[in-house]
Amino acid sequence: MSDFHELVTSRRMVRAFRADPVEREVLHRIVDLAARSPSAGKTQGWSIVALEGASTETFWSATMSAETRAGFRWRHLLAAPMILLSFADPHAYLERYSENDKSRTALGESTDAWPVPYWTVDASFATMTFLLAAHDAGLGALFFGVFRGENELRRVLGVPSHLQLIGAIALGYERTPEPSERDDEAFARGASAARRRATAQEIVHFGAW
Ligand SMILES: Cc1cc2nc3c(=O)[nH]c(=O)nc-3n(C[C@H](O)[C@H](O)[C@H](O)COP(=O)(O)O)c2cc1C
Repeated sequence: MSDFHELVTSRRMVRAFRADPVEREVLHRIVDLAARSPSAGKTQGWSIVALEGASTETFWSATMSAETRAGFRWRHLLAAPMILLSFADPHAYLERYSENDKSRTALGESTDAWPVPYWTVDASFATMTFLLAAHDAGLGALFFGVFRGENELRRVLGVPSHLQLIGAIALGYERTPEPSERDDEAFARGASAARRRATAQEIVHFGAW
C-alpha cells in the first residue's frame, strides 16, 4: 500500500482537539503544500484568515449562540488552537481572465459569464489538499460550514465584501478519549460519517449516463 493510499484512507474529520498550539511554521508548511493545488489560469485566488489561541473566540462568539454552545456535543472542538477561514476571490479570476492570453474567453467581464465558478473550485481543491497535508503533518482538522454569524464575523475581521467564504477549518492536535471517556458524546464521530460510501461502480457511468 502506498503512503498516499494510507494517507487518504486514514484521514477523518477531527472534532476533539487538545489546546496545544500549532506553530505558525507548521501552518505555513501545510499551506505551502495546499498552494500546489491546481488553479484555473494559475490564478490562485485562495486565502486564509487564521485565528490563533484566544482569538478563536472571535469566531465562536460570532457564529454560535451562547445557548447552542452550552449544549454543544463536541465541546473539545471549541478547544481547537486554530480556526482558519478559507476564502475564494472571484475578482482575482476576472482580472486573470482579462489578461492577454485569456481575454478571448470573455470570462473577465463578469462572474455571471462563468458556467462553473472556478474560484470556488480552486479554493475547494486547495482546502482539500490542506486537509490531507494537515493529516500528513500529524494534525487533526475539521472542515465545516459557517451557517450563522458570517456577516458579523466578516465585519469584525475586516474581510473584503467580494471574497467568498468557503468554510471554516478547525486545526490542532487530536484529543483522544481517556478510557473513562470512551462513551463520551464529545468524541463521537459526525452523524453522517456512518453513511455508506459510494462505490466506484456507482460513481462511474462508462460511455453514457
Ligand atoms: C462541504 C463540507 C461541509 C461540511 N460541513 C460540516 C459541518 O458543518 N459540521 C461537521 O461536523 N462536519 C462537516 N463536514 C464533514 C462531513 O460530515 C464529513 O466529511 C463526512 O461525514 C465524512 O466523514 P470523514 O471526512 O471523517 O470521512 C463537512 C464536509 C464537507 C466536505
